[in-house]
Amino acid sequence: MITSHALRQKYLDFFKSKGHAIIASAPLIPENDPTVLFTTAGMHPLVPYLMGQTHPEGKRLANVQKCIRTQDIDEVGDNRHDTFFEMMGNWSLGDYFKKEAIEWSWEFLTDKMWLGLDPRKLAVSVFLGDENAPKDDESAKIWVNLGVPMHKIAFLSRVNNWWGPAGQTGPCGPDTEMFYWMGKSEFPPEDSNPATDENNWLEIWNDVFMQYNKQLIANSSESIGDKFEFVPLAQKNVDTGMGLERTLVVLNGYSDVFQIDTFWPLIQKIESISGREYIESPEITKSMRIIADHIRTATMIMGDDRGVAPSNVDQGYIVRRLIRRAVRHGRNLGLKENFCSQIAEEVIKIFKDVYPEVNRNREFVLNEIAQEESKFRNTIESGLKELEKLLNGFRIAFEKTGQNVTEISGKKAFLLFESYGFPLEMTQELAVENGLSIDVNGFEEAYKKHQELSRAGAEQKFKGGLADNSEMSTKYHTATHLLHAVLREVLGKHVEQKGSNITAERLRFDFSHPEKLTDEQKKRAEDLLNYAVGHDYNVSFAEMSVDEAKEKGAIGLFGDKYEAKVKVYSIGDPNELASAHENSLTFSREICGGPHVEHTGNLGKFKIIKEEAVSAGVRRIKAILE
Ligand code: ALA
Repeated sequence: MITSHALRQKYLDFFKSKGHAIIASAPLIPENDPTVLFTTAGMHPLVPYLMGQTHPEGKRLANVQKCIRTQDIDEVGDNRHDTFFEMMGNWSLGDYFKKEAIEWSWEFLTDKMWLGLDPRKLAVSVFLGDENAPKDDESAKIWVNLGVPMHKIAFLSRVNNWWGPAGQTGPCGPDTEMFYWMGKSEFPPEDSNPATDENNWLEIWNDVFMQYNKQLIANSSESIGDKFEFVPLAQKNVDTGMGLERTLVVLNGYSDVFQIDTFWPLIQKIESISGREYIESPEITKSMRIIADHIRTATMIMGDDRGVAPSNVDQGYIVRRLIRRAVRHGRNLGLKENFCSQIAEEVIKIFKDVYPEVNRNREFVLNEIAQEESKFRNTIESGLKELEKLLNGFRIAFEKTGQNVTEISGKKAFLLFESYGFPLEMTQELAVENGLSIDVNGFEEAYKKHQELSRAGAEQKFKGGLADNSEMSTKYHTATHLLHAVLREVLGKHVEQKGSNITAERLRFDFSHPEKLTDEQKKRAEDLLNYAVGHDYNVSFAEMSVDEAKEKGAIGLFGDKYEAKVKVYSIGDPNELASAHENSLTFSREICGGPHVEHTGNLGKFKIIKEEAVSAGVRRIKAILE
C-alpha cells in the first residue's frame, strides 16, 4: 500500500530534484478575493505570478494545495465524489514549458523510482484547437516521442482541454490531461481512449499551458456589450494539478475513494460509534460516506485560520449544510446523540502534520461543530415529524380523492427552514427520497417576504439554494436560457421548460422529452451552448404585448399568467428571429423577468454533469459553468 504521506513526499521530492522550490498550501478561504468562496485549485493564489510578478521562491514551484469544490455535493455518497481534496501541483513561471512539463509528468507516472505505473494503462488528451488558439500538435508530438501511441491521444475541444481563467479574466490556456485505465479488462482495448470511452478512464493529472490572458476589450461595453480577447502573455507558464485522492485509488488498486488513508479512519470511527458495518447495505455505505466527507470538509474549512463558523451566509452556510446533512445521515445509522465532533477529531489527527492550522484551531472547530449539532438536534425530530405529517396528508388525500400531490409547497419548505433549521437542499433531498419535489419559487417568495418583514435580511446574502442574485446565479440564469434554446434545436421543438432551479453552484433544468439523451445529443448541446458563450452574444430585453412577443418567436414559461405587457429577453440581435445554431444572429428569445448577464462571453465553460428522468416524459439536466 502507498500512503497519502508517501505520495505527497514522492511528488515534492521529484519536483525538488527538478529544481522546484516547495511552497506551503494557501488557505482554503481565498485572501482578498471575494469572487470565489473557496480555493479550488493550486493556481488560484499564484495568479499575480502567472501574470508576471516575481515570486520570492523563484520560477519553479511545487506544493500540495488544500482545495474545495462543492458543485458535485449532491453526488457525494458514491464511490468517487468528495468535496475536500488535495491537489499536488508544479509551476513554471515563465521558465520551462511543454517539453519539460510533459516529460516530467511521464517520468513521475511511469518510472519505477517514482510511481511506476504501467504505460499500457495510460492515455492522454490534448487540445483540438479553435478560433482563439491553435491545435496543440506540439504536445501530441512530445507524447508520441515518449512512446504514447497516437490512438491513445484524444484531441478534445475547449470544453475539456482548456483551463482557466479562475475568474472572468486572467491567465488560461490549453491543457493536456493524463488518464488511467479503470475498465474491467486488464488492459484497454486498442481503440479505447478518453474520447471514445470516457467512462473507463480516470483523469489523474492536468498540465495547463497558461500562455494567454483572457481580457476585456477596452470600451467594448458601451454599444456592443463586453467583448473578450485572448492575448498572449509576456511569459509562458505551466500550471499542473494531480489529484491526491484519485492517484491513491489508482496506485492501491482500490475501487472506492473512501478506502484511502485520509478517509478510511473516519469510516472506521463511524462504524465503531454506530456499531454498524460499512458494507452492511448500500444505504449504510452511502450514509457513512456522506458523514465522512462532510465532516472532513467542514473541519478543514473551520480549521483554516479564518474563523469561519456555521452561519446562514457564504462559507458559513456551506459549513452549516455539511454538518446538518451529516447529522441527518447519522440518524440513518441510529445515531441519536452528538457524534460529529468525534469524527472531526479523527480528521484533525489525519491532517495535523500536513496542515498544522487544523490542529491550532482544534478547540474552535470541535466547539463549533458540537454547538451546531446540538442546535440542529433540538429541532430535527420535530421537523421530521412535521414532514411526516405532511406526507401522510398527501397519502390520505390520494386515497380519498385519487389526486396525487407531488410537490411540497414553498411555504411548507420555508417553515421547515425557519422553524426547524432544515436547509432548503436538505428538504429537497428528503422530498426526492419520497418521490416529491419542492416549489422553489414559492420558497423564495416566502423567504423574501420574511426578509422584508423582519428587515433583518437587508445586508444578508442567502447562498446556495435559491436565486440569490449573486453574480454566479445570474450567469446560471442566462445559461438556462441558452440551454432551453439549444435543447429545442438538438432534440426538437417539443422541448418545453418544466422547471428550473438555480444555485450559485449549478443549474437544474427540467424539460419535456420522452427518452434518455444519447451521449451525442449531450455533447452536441454542450458544444452548441459553448459556441454561444464563445460567440459572446449581447443580452438585452424589451417590453411588449404577449401577441408581439409571440410574433417575435419568444418562448415562454408561464402559460396563462401573463400581464398585458411582458419582458422579453433576447440573446443576440433583438430584431432578428431566434434560432440556436452556429452563426445565427439571435440565439434565444424568451419571456422572463431577469436578471441576466449583459453578454454571454464570460459565462464560462458549460458542462452537463447529469441527465436523468424526473417523471414520465420529463427529463432533468444538471449542469455547471466552469
Ligand atoms: N489548474 C489546473 C486544474 O485544476 C491544473 O486542473
